[in-house]
Amino acid sequence: MKQQLESLRTAALDALQGVDGLQDLEALRVKFLGRKGELTEILRGLATLSAEERPAMGQLANEVKEALSDAIDGKKAVLDAAASAERARAEAVDMSLPGRRVPEGHLHVITQVTEEIVGIFKQLGFQVATGPDIETEYYNFDVLNTPADHPARDSHDTFFVKPGHVLRTHTSPVQMRVMEQVQPPVAVVAPGRVYRVDYDATHSPMFFQIEGLLVDEGVTFADLKGTLMHFIHRFFGPDIQVRFRPHFFPFTEPSAEVDILWTAKDRHTGETKSRWLEILGCGMVHPEVFRHANYDYEKYSGFAFGMGLDRIAMVRHGINNIHLMYENDLRFLNQF
Ligand code: PHE
Repeated sequence: MKQQLESLRTAALDALQGVDGLQDLEALRVKFLGRKGELTEILRGLATLSAEERPAMGQLANEVKEALSDAIDGKKAVLDAAASAERARAEAVDMSLPGRRVPEGHLHVITQVTEEIVGIFKQLGFQVATGPDIETEYYNFDVLNTPADHPARDSHDTFFVKPGHVLRTHTSPVQMRVMEQVQPPVAVVAPGRVYRVDYDATHSPMFFQIEGLLVDEGVTFADLKGTLMHFIHRFFGPDIQVRFRPHFFPFTEPSAEVDILWTAKDRHTGETKSRWLEILGCGMVHPEVFRHANYDYEKYSGFAFGMGLDRIAMVRHGINNIHLMYENDLRFLNQF
């Protein structure tokens, strides 16, 4: 039996040398040490031995078993390490490879300009208001003191949707929608889409405006001028020249248009030229408008203004065709 055990040990260790895979290793373990393996087979003979011989053989058998187990475990560790090294090699990430760029969008140039302007007025305490794009003639015209025979109501300028309803031609109807909801003091700006039957390089049938309205006791034209000057200097820079020109709007009295002296380089000749550009309309809220709002026009006064956001974006960025901003050509949009 001693010989049997020794030769089992030698045979197993020899066989172990040739094993180079985890599956083969497991097969070898089963063959020699398994429940029906060769060692078990030999140990069956223990029963036939004399009581004196048995302990020594038992001990040897244990030694052989442990030696083989250790050898198999050692081999397993080596094979495991090799396998995980191989996996690491196969799954390795080449850190030197440049990453793939994920295309990333950004805000549209008109949205950028809108947010910047809204931000300036928010800092002055104005809140943001909105109104519907499809407006009643009542809000778009009547309450704004624009009588039925006013040229602005002519179908050449206005998109009529159905009787009594138009696509709003300006953001001014939001003034009344706000005044119907809240009592003075009121300070709001209302950005949004507006629509007019108009199409050329600087006019689009849909464009953007932002409205401003401030109502309180004792508001004067000086407040209007100071507020707008502050805004213009923040937005266009402290050195910009500004002029207020008398104008007419049915819903403000007195009214003005505001121009800035804009200096730009001529694309073709390269020479710098300055010219006055109209950027907004404004005025003191007409008492007739307050009457519609049920505001006491003896007690309150206010100012309103409205400006074209497309136009302001065009001035600031030197864009010469409004339609570029609506064509979604990335070569154009990516520049801002
Ligand atoms: N709603 C006018 C326009 O679209 C602008 C404006 C607004 C003028 C508020 C005065 C006061 O031209």
